[in-house]
Amino acid sequence: MLRIENLIKIYKDIRALDGLNLEVKEGQIYGFLGPNGAGKTTTILSILGMIFPQKGRIEVLGEEVFNGKFDEEKLIKVKYMIGYMPEDATLWDFLTPMQTLDIIGEAFKMSKAERQKRSEELLKLVGLWDVKDKKVGKLSKGMRQRLLLAQALINDPELLILDEPMSGLDPKGIAEFKELIRQFNKEGKTVFFSSHILAHVEEICDTVGVIVKGKLRAQDSLDNIKKEFLRRAGHTILIETNKPIHIDLEGVKVEVIGTNKYRIITSKDVREELHDLIAVQNAKILTMQIKEPSLEEIFLKMIE
Ligand SMILES: Nc1ncnc2c1ncn2[C@@H]1O[C@H](COP(=O)(O)OP(=O)(O)OP(=O)(O)O)[C@@H](O)[C@H]1O
Ligand SMILES: [Mg+2]
Repeated sequence: MLRIENLIKIYKDIRALDGLNLEVKEGQIYGFLGPNGAGKTTTILSILGMIFPQKGRIEVLGEEVFNGKFDEEKLIKVKYMIGYMPEDATLWDFLTPMQTLDIIGEAFKMSKAERQKRSEELLKLVGLWDVKDKKVGKLSKGMRQRLLLAQALINDPELLILDEPMSGLDPKGIAEFKELIRQFNKEGKTVFFSSHILAHVEEICDTVGVIVKGKLRAQDSLDNIKKEFLRRAGHTILIETNKPIHIDLEGVKVEVIGTNKYRIITSKDVREELHDLIAVQNAKILTMQIKEPSLEEIFLKMIE
């Protein structure tokens, strides 16, 4: 559906994309996660042919749109099948939601009747039917975001690309937005959206790509990213014993953090071995706690 290989984009002296690779499969909801300045918007603008990368390859909807340079014909062809919601989108405040969608529909060469029908469907879908004749300038942030989503859907796209679609929304707005994305995805459509906030991609994305400094750090389900992280960074086990003990296990790091208190960092769960080892020393475990990092902690570690 979307494949990026070795993409390089340099703005003057900033390497915004430094050999980026990623792959989005058909039907996925792909969360493109990374801190501010990581290169998310640069990636999205590259896919859409709105900026010029220096090197690499981009394949969208089966067409190689970029290989060192853009293929304009292919780019135009795929753009009719893509819906795009920009990061800092401006809406015309003096138009109504209905008029806004009508103009966007016209840009996609839809007939008047088609535009009318589609706008009505979409405004109902995103929950803006009640305010269809209100001026956009009078709408709340959440309503404006929904209108931006509706305009990205006007051409019934196969691939929806959203740049930080949930920024500025409250928790209720975020939950509703996620539900709209799910509905769209249920029809077999693919969604690619960026965010710098982990909570935005949780519960909804089957795959997450983490971009840091223009490179992909990880690409997998959040569950697998967490497992892999634990395998590399290790579990932390905290124990307290009734007397000093000596822990000597292969691949296990031990720190003394208090009187008879130890922090054990290990790549696998060694609780049983610990019990045996401590019993042999005629000591007892008073407390034992196994600590797993939260997804938030893992994300912060990755982008450090
Ligand atoms: N037009 C530009 N000219 C010069 N530098 C740019 C330009 N656009 C982006 N950059 C730089 O490229 C890097 C990547 O920026 P980009 O906007 O792609 O990040 P981002 O991941 O979308 O960040 P954010 O979460 O803040 O939206 C940053 O260092 C940014 O300052
Ligand atoms: Mg951005």
